[in-house]
Amino acid sequence: MNVGGTLIAKPAPSGLRGEITVPGDKSMSHRAVMLASLADGVTEIHGFLPGEDNIATANMFIDMGVRIDWLNDEQTSLRVYGVGLHGLKKPEKVLDAGNSGTCARLMMGVLAGQSFSTTITGDSSLQKRPMKRVTDPVCKMGASVSGELLPLTIHGGYLHGIEHVSQVASAQVKSCVLLAALFAEGETTVREPRVTRDHTERMLPLFGQPVTVDDDGLIHLNPTGKLIAPKAPIYIPADPSSAAFFAVAAALVPDSDVVLQRIGMNPLRNGWKRILMDMHGEITLQHESLVGQEAVADIHVSSSSLCGIDVNPADVPDAIDEFPVLFAAAALAKGEFVLTGAEELRVKESDRIAVMAKALSAAGAKLVETEDGIRITGGKLAGRCCIDAQGDHRIAMAMAVAAQCANKPIRIENAAAIATSFPNFVALAQSLGMCVSWEA
Ligand code: S3P
Repeated sequence: MNVGGTLIAKPAPSGLRGEITVPGDKSMSHRAVMLASLADGVTEIHGFLPGEDNIATANMFIDMGVRIDWLNDEQTSLRVYGVGLHGLKKPEKVLDAGNSGTCARLMMGVLAGQSFSTTITGDSSLQKRPMKRVTDPVCKMGASVSGELLPLTIHGGYLHGIEHVSQVASAQVKSCVLLAALFAEGETTVREPRVTRDHTERMLPLFGQPVTVDDDGLIHLNPTGKLIAPKAPIYIPADPSSAAFFAVAAALVPDSDVVLQRIGMNPLRNGWKRILMDMHGEITLQHESLVGQEAVADIHVSSSSLCGIDVNPADVPDAIDEFPVLFAAAALAKGEFVLTGAEELRVKESDRIAVMAKALSAAGAKLVETEDGIRITGGKLAGRCCIDAQGDHRIAMAMAVAAQCANKPIRIENAAAIATSFPNFVALAQSLGMCVSWEA
């Protein structure tokens, strides 16, 4: 776990104002560097998220012989010299996914297709997160894995296609199986209990690998035997999950008016926007356009009189990463907010139901934690507390947003993990007028 790093977040003295661009999409940045590394030819990527999670993925490919040239100091543009599906070299060290579940789980699919064995590890938080959901299907395809939790050693092998019926609505599981399917003989199909983010399905065709989806949601991948680097660069839109923090902050703080530029509008990532609008969030879209296979738009948010709602469980996968900040919104809204069907939140970077319940209660919120969700009775937040973000980036940022409307400051410990997904969060927050800073 990413320990250390204390944020001091205080009530915003006035409305939040400004037009900002948040960094590139985390999920798409992982996939872009993975597919580019496995392709024949050179791929240029722009809008890459230089967070610790994505750098961990890039480093794994560098450790397996892929050349990656960073084209700017910010590490948002890069050129990847793909080695082809069968060109990776056995790494000389243990591959380290750090805090990133997406890196670890998607890489299981890639490593399952290699002719060598690889050990993969992660930080103390990732070492507790379930991996059987990905190791089971890759073993069914022909790989073998020693261990149930990280660190794990994966013995790649001759893979064959499978019909995978996933028990959890997880894009990481689906993507792991689709990546392994690239190396397999015969077709692989994946069925999900609920449709999840489809960036892998959208990006593979850019590399010459078709993926089809039946009307009933069954996903098919017939491996063509290679990926081909696209001639045009890949442009990654700004991350809707990062935008959500500022959208909620602008909705909560009186007299705010904020524009979040060129945010990814993939409907499977924008559940938070629908939920916030159902809570009476004042949100409009401007300048809608297309970047590659993905829609983008500017999101305009102004101060709103938020109210609690019953979240439709069908919306949970589309908002899975944004519940911490939606809980902060609910704690400051009018009426009751009820979430059910969200037990997956308990196996994220932290148990996000328990950790947010503890943090918001310490700040004065009235809530009841349930096994698969939470009930929050909105009102005022006293603040004047010290909470532990437990090394979870989204808890730290959600509580910094909550503090903007609390009566007194909130001290947020173990917040350094913000660097995994949003390295410039504090600077952007300050530029809008949020009162948040790192303790010296
Ligand atoms: C992700 C999928 C989701 C999400 C994570 C990123 C991805 O995880 O929470 O932040 O990029 O595929 P699950 O697949 O575990 O739901």
